Amino acid sequence: MAMLQVSGLTKKYGALDVLKGIDFTLDKGQVLSIIGSSGSGKTTLLRCLNFLEKPNGGKITLNDGILFDATDAKTATSDEIRQKRLHFGLVFQSFNLFPQYTVLENVTLAMDLQEKDRAKQQKRKPSKEAIQNNRKKARQILKDVGLEQKADSYPFQLSGGQQQRVAIARALALEPDILCFDEPTSALDPELTGEVLRVMKELRERHTTMIVVTHEMDFAYNVSDKVIFMANGKIEEEGTPQQVFDTPKSELTKAFVNKSKNL
Ligand SMILES: Nc1ncnc2c1ncn2[C@@H]1O[C@H](COP(=O)(O)OP(=O)(O)O)[C@@H](O)[C@H]1O
Ligand SMILES: [Mg+2]
Repeated sequence: MAMLQVSGLTKKYGALDVLKGIDFTLDKGQVLSIIGSSGSGKTTLLRCLNFLEKPNGGKITLNDGILFDATDAKTATSDEIRQKRLHFGLVFQSFNLFPQYTVLENVTLAMDLQEKDRAKQQKRKPSKEAIQNNRKKARQILKDVGLEQKADSYPFQLSGGQQQRVAIARALALEPDILCFDEPTSALDPELTGEVLRVMKELRERHTTMIVVTHEMDFAYNVSDKVIFMANGKIEEEGTPQQVFDTPKSELTKAFVNKSKNL
């Protein structure tokens, strides 16, 4: 049984059909790369999975639990949505770090908020020990992404590549089931993309389940278990990297892949 099952997912913005019925599955520990031209619906798909957008139709199942079912008449409360969102971590193209907080605080913030929420529910004070543990955990994750020396720096003191690694650390801190990336290196100078891709490769070696929307065709080819090519709000083709890049079946895929090769 796949870890993630997406079926018949649709999303409209007004009269515009952005996702026209998306079906795919992802196994635990696998890396899925999503490629496709600008405007094909890749970001919208990630935003639907992360509950930043509400799909109009379809179903999302994770670990045998239904996360979203458009036929369910009951609307999820904001608390429920917050809980569901925790299954997914999202790393954006534009880092989106909090400029007023240090690197360490950027990573601990969401964990600390969770402890404060728990404390409120249990009518107690936030535990000093839990907050302390969060700092310890954050330092370890920063070490994993090669940034232990920068814990007390502020985002503006870091390069883009370092900022993006903080954003990855921040997403990892909440231990999501699936880590999603939306073009994580598109805003970076070429010499800085390598350090981010290296961290993502290391995550793969540690069996982190990932969905990566990317223009980095080398990454998609070499690091993913599965590649989806999206065109016009649909999955035009999916398969292993070899199938999609070396022996594409669809003409659209062929054209896209050849264009990417010539860049
Ligand atoms: N919030 C929005 N409101 C209206 N249209 C949107 C919105 N977000 C995206 N779109 C449209 O949906 C289509 C797919 O966008 P997007 O998911 O960002 O594609 P991609 O990430 O593949 O470039 C585009 O035509 C875009 O203009
Ligand atoms: Mg996009």
